[in-house]
Amino acid sequence: MRQDPLAYLAAELDLLREQGLYRSLRVLDDRQQASAHFDGRAVINLSSNNYLGLTTHPKLIAAAREATETFGVGSGSVRTIAGTMAIHMELERRLAAFKKTEAVVVFQSGFAANAGTVSAILNKDDVIISDELNHASIIDGCRLSRAAIKVFPHKDVEAARRIVRDLPASQRKLLITDGVFSMDGDLGAVADLCAIAEEYGCIMMVDDAHASGVFGQHGRGTIDHFHVHGRVDIQVGTLSKAMGALGGYVAGSRALIEFLYHRARPFLFSTSHPPAVAASCLAAVDILEQEPEIIDRLWENTRFFKTGLVKLGFNTGLSESPITPVIAGEGSLAMKLSDRLFQAGVFAQGLAFPTVARDKARVRTIVTAAHTREQLQFALDAFAKVGRELGLI
Ligand SMILES: Cc1ncc(COP(=O)(O)O)c(C=O)c1O
Repeated sequence: MRQDPLAYLAAELDLLREQGLYRSLRVLDDRQQASAHFDGRAVINLSSNNYLGLTTHPKLIAAAREATETFGVGSGSVRTIAGTMAIHMELERRLAAFKKTEAVVVFQSGFAANAGTVSAILNKDDVIISDELNHASIIDGCRLSRAAIKVFPHKDVEAARRIVRDLPASQRKLLITDGVFSMDGDLGAVADLCAIAEEYGCIMMVDDAHASGVFGQHGRGTIDHFHVHGRVDIQVGTLSKAMGALGGYVAGSRALIEFLYHRARPFLFSTSHPPAVAASCLAAVDILEQEPEIIDRLWENTRFFKTGLVKLGFNTGLSESPITPVIAGEGSLAMKLSDRLFQAGVFAQGLAFPTVARDKARVRTIVTAAHTREQLQFALDAFAKVGRELGLI
């Protein structure tokens, strides 16, 4: 009988089980919202990226329903053949105006936007200078581009400068950072890196996936927060987190966007969004423009919850955003913390190596504008009880 050529995968999984790092997927039984049912249990949900609570916003739902009735459920093609609908173009125009750039291209996800853009604009003769904690989609884009990759220690601007300074002036260089780092919730060194990019003629790129809808006026992102409009050549945003639906986009010059229309492989070779997705994203842009007080609520909740965790004595790292890690250390301890919190009615996902460094395993909490004070206090009480049981505080 033929031996299973994939048997080694089961052995890898056994190893994860032995190390206490095996995870089964938590299944959401109802809507993605502040209080929800996962695996049949009612929990306060601190694990989504639904920063503004838009996944269930009536205006987005109505827009999606109407677009489906009018245009159907699918686009039926990739953008470059028959799958560019008027609503896709309208969304790109609205996002460009919102981001104050010449143009925008929408991708199927933020991951596709990062990976598709970096791999399209560079080749093996070029160099990428990248923060060590940049998102996996940036790393994959860098690898796909076949450019040389030089990694600088997290937010170490002087190290980045030394790398750039020692490269030939004639070589094309991309300097790239996350705007908000997804595991630690700290902000990228955006303004300082812009200065280096200007001094040495680098292309400057910022992935604002966790900053869109969160930082800057009306949620325009870290470019607005740091007042560097016009100094970042390529801005990536996502429509899957604060915007409540799905997708990613690149904002920049008209030439950049038209080039990506011709060369970005996820754009060329994968079917475009259903009309309902584009319509709900348009409704989300309306909300950011017309109801910015929703972002204020997010920040009030963030301050309340973050202060509560710090007062309890948890190690919350260097977070500056609604993402607050609670660092446990060992991978198995972080998983235990997450599991016990879940039993106590709070869902905060455990994260261990290789997602974060081996000794910095954690649970990651993300509050949203939709959480009530009572829900956040309930979560803090659960953290206090479980944290004491595990000797973390
Ligand atoms: C920093 C960062 N960039 C990009 C992405 C990808 O975005 P999306 O979920 O829309 O693919 C994520 C999502 O986890 C992220 O955290």
